[in-house]
Amino acid sequence: MNDALQMDDARRMDDARHLVGSASRLLILTGAGVSAESGVPTFRGPDGLWKTRRPEELATPQAFQADPRLVWEWYGLRRERVGACRPNAAHEAIARLTLENGDARLVTQNVDGLHELALEEAVAEERSSGRSSDESVSRATPIRLHGSLFWTRCTVCDHRTADRHPVDADSEASLPRCPKCQALLRPDVVWFGEELDPEILESAMEAADAAEVCLVVGTSALVHPAASLPLLTKESGGVVVEVNTEPTPLTEVAQLSLRGRSGQVLPRLLTVEP
Ligand code: OAD
Repeated sequence: MNDALQMDDARRMDDARHLVGSASRLLILTGAGVSAESGVPTFRGPDGLWKTRRPEELATPQAFQADPRLVWEWYGLRRERVGACRPNAAHEAIARLTLENGDARLVTQNVDGLHELALEEAVAEERSSGRSSDESVSRATPIRLHGSLFWTRCTVCDHRTADRHPVDADSEASLPRCPKCQALLRPDVVWFGEELDPEILESAMEAADAAEVCLVVGTSALVHPAASLPLLTKESGGVVVEVNTEPTPLTEVAQLSLRGRSGQVLPRLLTVEP
């Protein structure tokens, strides 16, 4: 058993606070678990989104080509359900930390937009007290590995836009169309069998390589290349700290693993106590 697992909870939390708090460069990598307490279903959990909807059949370029109406209907439902969710205490703690600490970066696998929403709220709060700058906001903006439910892109040209509208998937004729070339728009998410955007992946890998600590929150660490980022930090001499309700393949490589819900653990882990 990993030594870390034998320590008592309070000691482990203290050690993790010290590691994370003293890291000159910190990478936070999040997965669906960070949004579970906001009501967004995870992919592989007991009420996982994947269980009821067969995404392997719907979230593919082939499925979209065969039946774009069906795929848009599914994304429309997800957009509606996720759009009603609010950031939780974990998103808030991460947003505040990345805004205040110029050496912290956030990489997320999530397409739910909750980190972005939490950041907007943290920025509004800081601006009202005259603190945040455009530079700190840009640094705090999450690197989104898998795209966003609230962005669309054209299937033909390079048009890409933020889009939070409800989707009318009654017929193929009512589906969203590109304002530039009239071709079908598609959700700007990475589907099964598709490559990640190389520039986005490169910036995530640079952040992982440079990090002294990679804090991994709420991911099953089964999907690569996202799950390889903490390994890159470790190979470069850094350490991995994990927050998850369950053990994962990363638990064995983590210096410390904190068992618990991220909405409870992260505010304690990331907030500087007076
Ligand atoms: P998963 O559903 O695979 O894993 C969610 C993880 O969060 C599990 O390890 C849970 O134990 C943990 N968890 C659940 N509730 C938690 C809580 N309150 N606090 C902390 N941890 C909690 O989701 P991901 O790892 O994000 O890719 O999945 C990775 C990728 O697989 C997704 O981005 C998606 C999917 O294929 C694409 O869409 C391209």
